[in-house]
Amino acid sequence: MAGTVRISGSKNSALPILAATLLTNERCVIHRVPDLSDVHYMLQILTHLGAEVERASGIVTVKAEKVATEAPYDVVRKMRASVCVLGPLLGREKEATVSLPGGCVIGDRPIDLHLKGFEALGAAVRVHSGNVKVLAPSLRGASVSLRGKLGTTVLGTDNVMMAAVLADGVTVIQDAAREPEVVDLADFLNKMGAKIEGAGTSRIVIEGVKELHGAEHEVIPDRIEAGTFLVAGAIAGKKVTITRANAGHVAAVADALKTCGYQIAAKSDSLTIQANGTPRPLNLCTEGYPGFPTDMQAQMCALLATAPGESAVTENIFPQRFMHVSELKRMGAAIELDGATARIHGVASLSGAPVMASDLRASAALVLAGLKADGMTEVSRVYHIDRGYELLDEKLSGLGATIERVKV
Ligand code: EPU
Repeated sequence: MAGTVRISGSKNSALPILAATLLTNERCVIHRVPDLSDVHYMLQILTHLGAEVERASGIVTVKAEKVATEAPYDVVRKMRASVCVLGPLLGREKEATVSLPGGCVIGDRPIDLHLKGFEALGAAVRVHSGNVKVLAPSLRGASVSLRGKLGTTVLGTDNVMMAAVLADGVTVIQDAAREPEVVDLADFLNKMGAKIEGAGTSRIVIEGVKELHGAEHEVIPDRIEAGTFLVAGAIAGKKVTITRANAGHVAAVADALKTCGYQIAAKSDSLTIQANGTPRPLNLCTEGYPGFPTDMQAQMCALLATAPGESAVTENIFPQRFMHVSELKRMGAAIELDGATARIHGVASLSGAPVMASDLRASAALVLAGLKADGMTEVSRVYHIDRGYELLDEKLSGLGATIERVKV
């Protein structure tokens, strides 16, 4: 396995950006939208809310002439990110009702910080019969901190920003998420006529405007897909180049891989990974950006499973996000969970086994482990992969991996 792979547009940028198109009655054109089931669900929600949506080879056009303000359970239940229509609907219509997201295998998924932000802007929040309703006679700028017990919130920052762009006066989001996806959303909103400064720092200042207009935007490269392919190269011990990536966004993952002993050559939009002797173990903690991303934790566990020595991976963002561990153990990995830390004793080899995907990144980790394992690995429930990786199997076979999607 070796070669070059092109990175797709970012799922976690595309989803809030598509939601943000609800903020105007004019046409928005979004480029480099990945073909993923989560994107498909978001487009279904936009259509349900009354928007006209067209999609052709990575370009999505949305025109939300009029919008409904209710997104019921059957349209939002498939994806937790559907909660990010709350902000734009509140901003535009001063009212929104969305079915509450439940917990999921990666842990509890509360939205208290999103709601705290809306309340600060003057909205009344009511949770009833599984729905959350936010209603404001008018929205006024305010200062609000989005720091919670486990740090800040990415979609919460997005949501409050999307509501605040049409509020009267200035909103200051303190302890905002600094992820590149927040910056991408702010860039798009500014193209629509919003006045946002400070995105990418923990203090975002939004000066409300009367209305937004249509805009055209290209979604940033998916840094988690990029990181996943770097780990694929690492695990297979082969030279892999990823292109159309943003090397800066992948720095924490590249640094971790370098600490393990891999050689990484980075240009601004491409990175090449190459093995350099036996990999070394690693101690790693997930953190908000620019720290090591929680969305790469499972893939890293798969890699460290065969790095000789003792590694420790601590999950600070979603402390229960370790569903991949029991499946990796079925493939021969020696991993013990100690609270939110996976203690990994690197083994000489993994063996192929039938394993079950539990969530998006856990599925990717199992596929990566399968690249290393002796014999055949059969990953079931691969619909989790299709939620967030565009053509993962085709891209891996393009690199020479023996991987096949089997219809059952
Ligand atoms: N949290 C709260 N209260 C809130 C919101 C979050 O306590 O109101 C907690 C969460 O329970 C969690 C932590 O804060 O412990 C961080 O959650 P965050 O809100 O930042 O997560 P998110 O915005 O719902 C996005 C990504 C996730 C990614 C996280 C963290 C999207 C669509 N999803 O979720 O991506 O893991 O940020 O970076 O952008 C994935 O792509 O596989 C994925 C799960």
